Amino acid sequence: MTNTELVILRELNAAPNEFVSGAQLATKLSISRVAIWQHMEKLRREGFEFEAVRARGYRISKHPTALHAIYIEAILEAKQRTFPLTVLDEVDSTNDEAARQLADGRQTPFVILARKQTKGRGRFGRVWHSDDHHNLYSSFAFRPQLAPHLMPTFTLWMGVNICELITNFCSMQAGLKWPNDIVFDGRKAGGMLTEARIDSDQMRDLVFGLGLNVNNPAGAWPTELASRATSLAEQSGEPLNLNRFAAALIGRVSLAYKQFVEGDHTTTFADTWNYYDVLRGQDIVVLNGEQRIAGTASGIDDTGSLLIRDKQGRSQRFTAGEVTLEKVL
Ligand code: BTN
Repeated sequence: MTNTELVILRELNAAPNEFVSGAQLATKLSISRVAIWQHMEKLRREGFEFEAVRARGYRISKHPTALHAIYIEAILEAKQRTFPLTVLDEVDSTNDEAARQLADGRQTPFVILARKQTKGRGRFGRVWHSDDHHNLYSSFAFRPQLAPHLMPTFTLWMGVNICELITNFCSMQAGLKWPNDIVFDGRKAGGMLTEARIDSDQMRDLVFGLGLNVNNPAGAWPTELASRATSLAEQSGEPLNLNRFAAALIGRVSLAYKQFVEGDHTTTFADTWNYYDVLRGQDIVVLNGEQRIAGTASGIDDTGSLLIRDKQGRSQRFTAGEVTLEKVL
């Protein structure tokens, strides 16, 4: 990544409707106007389009639709939030890549984003559809000093934050299906996969993986997903700026992580989850290993365990499991 392009994008982003002159950029960067033009040409090849007007300068007329590391950095720097970022064109799984980099000793926190995954994974080893550049495949790596039993709560807390981010960014409300699905009307738009290496009484490191269908066109799902998957663009009726969304996500996850390790989530967590919860009041079946319990969902407790009232009227709590709606079975 060149610092020059970061500065150029930051300057142009700072005044999106104004023209920024080549001379001004050249002075700021202490390079020639020809050198500025060469960097702009490189950015053009990467998906940017610029309006260039004689004696006035440049402004951005089109942003790349695929993830672009420098553009994300430029937005993040403007907001003064730093979270080291790697954007890969293709990777097996961003969670696996983050785990490899943690094992190699990379300093935390950091985030890995990929335009495509060849072995995207979901819970229970399921495949996560990851074969185009429209969506977000992201993994955030941390070394938290937290007890292992907090891991499920961490995922749910992140889910609440991602729903709030979607509400703010897209002005529409997503729902949460315990424990890790982001949904709209029963169709899945996102999934979370948190993985940790545990020492005896503490997490050694933690990878929070989020797959979010951002701009997948409605008709472009593989047949087996067509009735079950959706994207933010499909729900909002227009494509989103993927890079701006990625930058907002990084800012939000960074803040949410800080709140979690400092214990600041505890007062609002369960109430906020219950607000987004799509299972509450529904007849569901929880599969937990060999156990299969039917009942009515009644929200979560303060630690994130799912509460259900079973057919005998007893309250039951689940820290793990898979939920299906009873009518679907
Ligand atoms: C699920 O719904 O079961 C969780 C899906 C998690 C998918 C994301 S995509 C980014 C990260 N890398 C992976 O291989 N998985 C997670």
